[in-house]
Amino acid sequence: MSNVIDQYRIAHEPYYRAVADEIELYEAAYSVRMPMMLKGPTGCGKTRFVEHMAWKLGKPLITVACNEDMTASDLVGRFLLDAQGTRWQDGPLAIAARHGAICYLDEIVEARQDTTVVIHPLTDNRRVLPLEKKGELVHAHPDFQIVISYNPGYQSLMKDLKQSTKQRFGGLDFNYPEHAIEVEIVAHETGVASGIAEKLVSIAERARNLKGHGLDEGISTRMLIYAGSLIARGVDAHAACRVALVRPITDDPDMRDALDAAVTTFF
Ligand SMILES: Nc1ncnc2c1ncn2[C@@H]1O[C@H](COP(=O)(O)OP(=O)(O)OP(=O)(O)O)[C@@H](O)[C@H]1O
Ligand SMILES: [Mg+2]
Repeated sequence: MSNVIDQYRIAHEPYYRAVADEIELYEAAYSVRMPMMLKGPTGCGKTRFVEHMAWKLGKPLITVACNEDMTASDLVGRFLLDAQGTRWQDGPLAIAARHGAICYLDEIVEARQDTTVVIHPLTDNRRVLPLEKKGELVHAHPDFQIVISYNPGYQSLMKDLKQSTKQRFGGLDFNYPEHAIEVEIVAHETGVASGIAEKLVSIAERARNLKGHGLDEGISTRMLIYAGSLIARGVDAHAACRVALVRPITDDPDMRDALDAAVTTFF
């Protein structure tokens, strides 16, 4: 049984550059097993942060990418039919609760509300998970914690977490790091010189100012790392920025011109 959970252990320290006091706050939250909600735009470091914290706390990490087709059984578990007959298979939430992992539900808003409610009994002081079909009540392991990610701004009225879900969590805000820190991250992750990382970050900052003025979302740290990785492989900076920064985020010709011009300004 123990090897089920061993595959979720993180062997090497995931690089994470703290931006504020999020590491200390998370450690305090974990010490009281407070369920946590990480809020922030795509590609700003939420997943990396959870990986780092799971490593730091020495806990296995089970990540579930949520989507609207996901059912409660996908999280909790189901009976499978095989040659020996039927057997129960724990879903990721049940595995995490039994073995004391950190369970990271990525993009939780994508899941339907009837799926989301299965986390409720685990996220209040009951800390239990009823496996209704199996007729078992799992009492969460003392190390178990639940973490969800949430992209503010992407929600429509139809697609948001219920207050009764939201209010079970502590929240940490994430955003693109400030200039010097983002330069450090891009240089570290890609191996480009900090002068190049600096230019990439400056291009992103211009693009972030266009959010809501023709761009739905700014250029993320993740995109800068893609661009930097191409440059580190010897790709010409203009081409790298076109491929990694400009083409993915917009199809609007004027917006592409504006972003290409920003690239030319810096490179
Ligand atoms: N503070 C940071 N320290 C180290 N690396 C970072 C940091 N912030 C961002 N990164 C880098 O940016 C990349 C993208 O971050 P990550 O995958 O954590 O984004 P995310 O917020 O989980 O995005 P999504 O909402 O799309 O899942 C990481 O792989 C990592 O290389
Ligand atoms: Mg993520």
